[in-house]
Amino acid sequence: MNIAIVGTGYVGLVSGACFAEMGLNVTCVDIDASKIALLKGGHIPIYEPGLKSIVTKNHEANRLHFTTDLKSVINDISILFIAVGTPSDDEGNADLSAIYSVAESVAENMQNYLLVVTKSTVPVGTTAKIKSLIADKLIERNLGHIEFDVASNPEFLKEGAAVSDFMSPDRVVVGVENDRAKEIMSRLYRPFLLNNFRVLFMDILSSEMTKYASNAMLATRISFMNDIANLCELVGADVSMVRRGVGSDSRIGKSFLYPGAGYGGSCFPKDIKALIKTAQNYGYQMRVLKAVEEVNDLQKEILFRKLLHYFDSQIEGLNIAVWGLSFKPGTNDMRDAPSINLINKLLDHQVNVRVYDPAAMEEAKSYFGDKVHYSADIYDASNNADAVILVTEWKEFRLPNWDILAKIMRKQIVLDGRNIYNAEDLASHGFTYTCIGKK
Ligand SMILES: NC(=O)c1ccc[n+]([C@@H]2O[C@H](COP(=O)([O-])OP(=O)(O)OC[C@H]3O[C@@H](n4cnc5c(N)ncnc54)[C@H](O)[C@@H]3O)[C@@H](O)[C@H]2O)c1
Repeated sequence: MNIAIVGTGYVGLVSGACFAEMGLNVTCVDIDASKIALLKGGHIPIYEPGLKSIVTKNHEANRLHFTTDLKSVINDISILFIAVGTPSDDEGNADLSAIYSVAESVAENMQNYLLVVTKSTVPVGTTAKIKSLIADKLIERNLGHIEFDVASNPEFLKEGAAVSDFMSPDRVVVGVENDRAKEIMSRLYRPFLLNNFRVLFMDILSSEMTKYASNAMLATRISFMNDIANLCELVGADVSMVRRGVGSDSRIGKSFLYPGAGYGGSCFPKDIKALIKTAQNYGYQMRVLKAVEEVNDLQKEILFRKLLHYFDSQIEGLNIAVWGLSFKPGTNDMRDAPSINLINKLLDHQVNVRVYDPAAMEEAKSYFGDKVHYSADIYDASNNADAVILVTEWKEFRLPNWDILAKIMRKQIVLDGRNIYNAEDLASHGFTYTCIGKK
């Protein structure tokens, strides 16, 4: 089977490489010529564990191709996935301009039957709009007789574990409106069915909604736990204990109950906003989700507030080391990362900021330019520092050498935004330690 994936970002590239790994002939299409040139030259434009080896292997095996020219492949494929970005617009709606631009070029160039599948996260009703856009355009071209179907196949992979998530998904959700599309999508996902993963077929509107509802539920758990953590601090409880107690209930489960510096990334913030907007467009208010957003906005400031509190608001001129910049470990993605709010606030207060991240240093330059010092490692970042602030819990930050840090830092203060360190351990090395949700 020949397929194309339009949009070669985190989702498009991972999906394309994984489908090629299953033996399909895949072309990844993107309008970004420099990205396509990099990929053709064997370079991977994003950091994602395990991705480089499967991209290289399948590219060399001639199963994975890259192009900027959709027209050159559109009539040799049976499925076209749309995996372009759907960022927030100024009002918080999902900006669907890239989606419709792909739909337009599909309609302008297709000559044969095609199944057009939305893999991007799109508001309920978008796939139906793509269908009418293509149908209208084909009629305009006097090609109204060409048959096509649309389907929705939202993606649930997590950055940092994208390849394994794609290869071993909890479930695959597919929205279809007829048996022909169902049969093609069943064939596509047969290798996954062989491994007993669940492929859930449903109608297209429900499929589109499932993606938003899933992200909304995960974001809700995070904000809920951050709210509980903040209350724990006030009443003297320990949120790590509370989390274990709550998560051990099999009705609740352990995932996404970790308090921290707020959720970020390319999905939760924009998807929560878009779902609130969708509801408003239907005259309905998503009251829970508005609170989820409000809690998260406040939580993104918590490390800054703790620093102010510790230094009695006298932070001008301090040297602060920031460990971790990406929105979570395992990725270089900094979109809406809590580190951005924190660092901008520090810079506003004339703090000298020294940053280190194992994967996101290049990315960081587009956010902070020459306003921060880019360090070689956590020790370089902490040299002469008045405090360390841990924002992203990369594995390599788990067991730093506190003896060295105690010697090279000006003041021995650690603000732990992810609760990964042990207070007694740090105290034994002479550190003052503060984390989230404990007195
Ligand atoms: N990143 C994730 O973890 C994740 C997970 C699940 C779902 N999603 C959803 O998947 C979609 C893609 O997300 P992403 O993170 O991969 O985005 P991304 O920004 O990494 O990649 C999008 C790509 O689309 C390309 N593009 C834009 N307009 C185009 C056009 N007209 N033709 C061809 N290419 C075009 C861009 O150049 C870019 O390379 C979004 O809707 C997102 O919400 C993302």
